[in-house]
Amino acid sequence: MITDRLPHVFYGGDYNPDQWPEEVWEEDARLMQEAGVNLVSLAIFSWARLEPRPGEYDFDWLDRVVDLLDAHGVKVDLATATASPPPWLAKLHPESLPVTREGVRLWPGSRQHYCPSSSEYRKAAASLVRRLAERYRDHPALVMWHVNNEYGCHVPECYCDTSARHFREWLRARYGSLEALNDAWGTAFWAQHYSDWDEVNPPRATPTFPNPTQQLDFRRFSSDALLECFEMEARILREITPGVPVSTNFMGFFKPLDYWKWAEREDVVADDSYPDPSDPEAHVGAAMSYDLMRSLGGGRPWVLMEQTPSKVNWRRRNALKRPGQMRLWSYQAVARGADGVMFFQWRASRAGAEKFHGAMVPHVGTESSRTWEEVRQLGSELGRLDALLGARTPASVAIVFDWESWWGLELDSRPSADVRMLEQAMAYYRPLFEANIAVDFVRPDADLSGYRIALVPNLYMTPDDAGERLGGFVSDGGALVMSFFSGTVDRNDHVRLGGYPAQLRELLGLRVEDFDAYAPEQRNHINVPGRGAFECDLWSDLIGLEGAEPLATYTADFYAGRSAVTRNRFGRGVAYYLGTRPEPGFMDWLLGTVCSEAGVEPALEAPDGVEATIRTNGGREYLFVLNHGREGADVRLPGGWRDLLTGEGREGTLRLDPFGVAVLERA
Ligand code: GLA
Repeated sequence: MITDRLPHVFYGGDYNPDQWPEEVWEEDARLMQEAGVNLVSLAIFSWARLEPRPGEYDFDWLDRVVDLLDAHGVKVDLATATASPPPWLAKLHPESLPVTREGVRLWPGSRQHYCPSSSEYRKAAASLVRRLAERYRDHPALVMWHVNNEYGCHVPECYCDTSARHFREWLRARYGSLEALNDAWGTAFWAQHYSDWDEVNPPRATPTFPNPTQQLDFRRFSSDALLECFEMEARILREITPGVPVSTNFMGFFKPLDYWKWAEREDVVADDSYPDPSDPEAHVGAAMSYDLMRSLGGGRPWVLMEQTPSKVNWRRRNALKRPGQMRLWSYQAVARGADGVMFFQWRASRAGAEKFHGAMVPHVGTESSRTWEEVRQLGSELGRLDALLGARTPASVAIVFDWESWWGLELDSRPSADVRMLEQAMAYYRPLFEANIAVDFVRPDADLSGYRIALVPNLYMTPDDAGERLGGFVSDGGALVMSFFSGTVDRNDHVRLGGYPAQLRELLGLRVEDFDAYAPEQRNHINVPGRGAFECDLWSDLIGLEGAEPLATYTADFYAGRSAVTRNRFGRGVAYYLGTRPEPGFMDWLLGTVCSEAGVEPALEAPDGVEATIRTNGGREYLFVLNHGREGADVRLPGGWRDLLTGEGREGTLRLDPFGVAVLERA
C-alpha cells in the first residue's frame, strides 16, 4: 500500500479553504465525510497567505483547517505551496522571475512565475517548507507531502542570466572541459567553437536552427534544474518527517521533464489527467498515461491526483463528462494500477481563472446535483476496495520509451517534422489496448528479461550498449519490434555511421541506406504476400537485407518491390523492423501475430469498446471490466468471480451498461 498512515484507496481532491470564509470550512468537512473523502491535497496555492510578508508566517488558519479535517476523519496530503510565489518576492527580487527564449520576462499575476535556478526563489521556498514540516510533523492528519505543483507545466525552462550561469555549471560538471563540450556539441559546424565558458549560453532566439546538442543539453539541464528544486524540498521534508511519503503531481507524457529520472526520487508517483470528454478516443490516451505512471514507479501503485468530476475550463470548448463517465474513467485509473482517485478540486471557486472548472462541490451546491451524486457514489464504492491496496499488474509486453530520445527525435532540422514520438508510441499501444493485453513502459537500459515482447517505436537515440542489450533479449528468445529512425544517433546527437541503425544492424539483419520523408497527403502501400496491400505514409526506409526476410514490400515509387517490413531470426528469438508507418490494420495484424507467437494472452476476450485488465495481490486476482461504449455489452467471464462493488457472485455472461464497470475478485 502507499502508506500505512491511510490504509484505504485515497479519495478526495485539491482543497483551497483560503478561497472561502471560515464558516464554509465546517460545511466542507461535513460534506467530505458524506462523500467518503479520506484525503485532501491542502493549500497548494497558499504561499501568499502563509507568508504574507517576507519572513512573516501565518499558520494559524491552516492549523484550524487541519484540525477540523482530522476531526472529520479526513487526512491531509499537505502541499509545500511553492508553485506560486507571493507578489513580494518579485518586488524584492525581480531577477527571480523567469525569462522566455525570446527574452520576455514573465510577471506575477497568474502562477508559476519563478526561475528554477533563482537562489532567492529557492531560499524563500526552502524556509517555507522547513516551517511547514516543523509545524505539522507530528500532526495525525499528515499522510503525504505534495511538493510544489505540476513542475514545469507553464514554465518548463528559463533563459535568464541566472539560468545561463547555472547551465554553464551544469555543463562543466557534465563535460569537465570546454574541449569536451566543443566536441560533444560539434561546434566545428558553422563556426560555433567556444574559447571561454562565458561565451556559452542557453539556446536563446537565434537566426536559424540553434546547435542541436546545445538544445538537447538545455532540455536535460532544464529538467534537472526543476528536479533540483524538488529535491531541495524533498530533502527538508525527509529530514524532518522521515516516515511521510513525498510526491509531486506528474502530467502524463509531459515532454519537458524526464519522468524516469524524477520518479526515482519520489516515494509515490502521482498523475493529473484530463481526457477530453468530446473525444471518443480519449480513454485510449488516458490508459497509455496510466500504464506509464505505473511503470515509472516500477509497478508500484500510484495516485490519480487530479481529474475533473465534470469539466475543465482551459480548453476552447469544455465538454461535460456524460453521466457515468467520471466513474468509468476513475476506475480506469484503478484498473491500471492506481490506489487513489482524487480531483481538482473540492469546491468550485467563485473568483479567479478557474471558476468555471468543475469541482466535487459545484456552484449549484449539493442539492439535486448530478456531479455531487456521482462523487458520493464513487466515494462509497471505493471504500469497498481495500483488498486491492498494493495490487500489481502483470505484463509480458514492454514498450521502450525514453525522454532524451523523444527530445532528439522532435528537434528541428530532422528529416521530417511529422515524426512525433507520442503518435508513434500510440501506433503500437492501441492494438494492444484494444486486445486487452497488458503493457509496461521501460527505459532503454531496462532489464527486459521479465518480458516476452519488446516494442521499440522510433528510438532515435540509443545508449552505446543498445546492440548488446536488445540483442541479448532477442537471442534469449524475446520478440522485438522496432520502427524506422531508431538507433540513429548517440547521446550527443551524433550520427552512428556505416548504415543505419548501426549497432542494431546485426540484430535486425539489415542496413538502411537512406530514407524518404513523405508530404502530408502522400501515400504508398506495402504488400504482404497472402494478406494483400496495406496503406502506409510518413516515411520510407530504403532497406538492404543482410539476413532478414522481407515481410512486406513497397508497391510504388522508385523503391517499389523493396522491403518495407522485415523479420530476422536472431538466436532463439525474432526481430521485426518497420521501415514505414503502416495503417492501423497492419499494426493489428503484426502485433497480433507477434503476441500469439510469443504466447501472450489478453486479460479477457471482450467485445469492442470493453477494456479489461488484471491486478494481482498475493495469490488473489482481480479483473476490471470497463465498457467505454455507448451501448450495453455482454462479456463472457472465465470461471467464477465475486463482484467487489455489489458483493454478488458472477459467472457466465456479465452484462455491462453503457459506461458500466465491474471490479471482480476470482472466487
Ligand atoms: C492542473 C493544476 C491545478 C488546476 C487544474 C485545472 O492540473 O495542477 O491546479 O489548475 O490543472 O485543470
